[in-house]
Amino acid sequence: MKKLIAATILAITAHTAPAADITIRVDRPGTPVQPTMYGLFFEDINFAADGGLYAEMVKNRSFEFPQHLAAWRTFGRVELRTDSAPFPRCPHYVRLTPTGHRDKHTGLDNEGFFGVSVRGGASYRFSLWARALAPGAPARLRVELIDPSTAARTQVLASDTLAIPADAWQRYELTLTPSATAARGRLRIFLEGDAGADLEHISLFPADTWKGRPGGLRLDIAQKLADLRPGVLRFPGGCIVEGTDLPTRYQWKNTVGPVENRPVNENRWHYTFTNRFFPDYYQSYGLGFFEYFQFAEDIGAEPLPVLNVGLACQYQNDSEAAHCPLDSLQPYIDDVLDLIEFANGPATSAWGSVRASMGHPEPFGLKFVAIGNEQWDTPYTSRLAPFVKALRERYPDIKIVGSSGPDPDGARFDFLWPEMARLGADLVDEHYYRDEQWFLRNATRYDSYDRRGPAVFAGEYACHGADGHNYNHFNAALMEAAFMTGLERNADIVRMATYAPLLAHVEGWQWRPDMIWFDNFSSVATSSYYVQQLFATNRGERVLPLTAADGRPLAGQDSLYASAVTSPDGIIIKIVNTGDTPQPLAINLRGLRKKQNVSSVTLTELHSSDPRAENTLFSPARVVPRTRTLSAHPHARPPRTVLLQPRSQ
Ligand code: AHR
Repeated sequence: MKKLIAATILAITAHTAPAADITIRVDRPGTPVQPTMYGLFFEDINFAADGGLYAEMVKNRSFEFPQHLAAWRTFGRVELRTDSAPFPRCPHYVRLTPTGHRDKHTGLDNEGFFGVSVRGGASYRFSLWARALAPGAPARLRVELIDPSTAARTQVLASDTLAIPADAWQRYELTLTPSATAARGRLRIFLEGDAGADLEHISLFPADTWKGRPGGLRLDIAQKLADLRPGVLRFPGGCIVEGTDLPTRYQWKNTVGPVENRPVNENRWHYTFTNRFFPDYYQSYGLGFFEYFQFAEDIGAEPLPVLNVGLACQYQNDSEAAHCPLDSLQPYIDDVLDLIEFANGPATSAWGSVRASMGHPEPFGLKFVAIGNEQWDTPYTSRLAPFVKALRERYPDIKIVGSSGPDPDGARFDFLWPEMARLGADLVDEHYYRDEQWFLRNATRYDSYDRRGPAVFAGEYACHGADGHNYNHFNAALMEAAFMTGLERNADIVRMATYAPLLAHVEGWQWRPDMIWFDNFSSVATSSYYVQQLFATNRGERVLPLTAADGRPLAGQDSLYASAVTSPDGIIIKIVNTGDTPQPLAINLRGLRKKQNVSSVTLTELHSSDPRAENTLFSPARVVPRTRTLSAHPHARPPRTVLLQPRSQ
């Protein structure tokens, strides 16, 4: 009985198939490909969290933006008030009082994120905290979803009333089901009757969220992320970890516990690029560290939180005075140690009990922490040292990720790599937003890396096309795929890789290209997404030696790039043809055992003859993977070689 192996070929091509012979030594499986190899990097940029993955539809729900009524339109008698109860870290709320005239109205409406976009027939959960103004004076609210742009007789798509009987703060909830779809809808609240009310934390979520969790994540986006089957989830940034200044850095302790009491933080991406300026872009922290850990667990990815090292964004701050002094770092170090307790500590521990109170008594099993994002020079290394010391003492098993700065080469990079080795980082985070030629040239980048030092985490990368082609076209994805064969070939040193940024709202983006684009109703996977998905869902187990006719790794000869791995039932070969010549493909499988043969060949192809082809919300399937079974023609070739020669189509 012959042992059959299945060959899965992933071809990412500008043209149908490459020419040269490839030889794969199936008898020499090498280094394991880490389960963390292909993953996600999530940052709240481009309205990725608020207005994106986090499904909240009300903007400035707690009146905590610095312009406290931003995104709200008030009418009648509405007054902004402050009180440390019931949510000390979100003290603002509104007081609604009757106008005193039957035909005049008090209330407010919210514009949402680029509209409160609702679908006819779908259900939405409205909730708020409220209190009547006096005992025995119950208030009444009318809550509506409206379409202000309609020419129909009524703007109202859904309406219901809420009684507010108590003069103590309480949470109230109702479900609204709009009769029609509105892209630019609004949430409107009228005060009815003769009694006033105080309102706080006004919220609206689709009933249908990821895993059905109330107050959860947007289903279509979360599902696309899950469908990548990522091995690691890096969060929450990116530059937002640093902040434009230290007070606006991301502080995880503000992001856990009841959402109503999470303070709003400034999002640096509202002003970093004034050519795409979003003055009302803040972080509600509704998507906080508990939710990140939970999502990582849901999708089977290792969580990789990034924490501030005591530095504000170094691009934006030249002076040492902007950063935390070396002798005052303890609170920052405590943030890391406490986070590990939050993630992994027993439910009886101080921070573990916070996690347990949020519904997850079991530990999250955190294994990695990154200290610093894109930091450089001695301001970084001098601060990192005490973090490493404290971590090694308290949590010796936690792997530490250090930074190699914002560039993949140059003085900062050259300084940091040996420093990371000296300080004992386990992995070094490299970032590259570079053009086509850089990606092709760097397909062999890791072939000659020093194996004695820390491992590599390609933490942020994307091909930024030259000559005005800085968007998500197929050619950019092709370059990324060519480069990724080099990551895979060097899986002994490259342990993680995460494309960046991940998400972008079509109306709210600051940075492109991005892996997934969305509006309020739907989302679209770019060709870069499909490249990531093909690699991640075909990660395999061990790297197989793969060589071209010249005996070297296939990394640019005849515009071809390839890597191969073992899988439980055979082998997986990834081939990228960046050239423009379609030719037949011959793959030599060398070293098959006597009784082995090829049983089936599956070819998944991501192809476009138009290098500028782009998937959009309106044309989402211009570049998508297609799978077919090939009729292989196995030929025994001494010694124990099989030639796969797909029949020409
Ligand atoms: O991904 C966008 C930004 O690029 C990140 O915030 C930062 O780390 C890098 O400069």
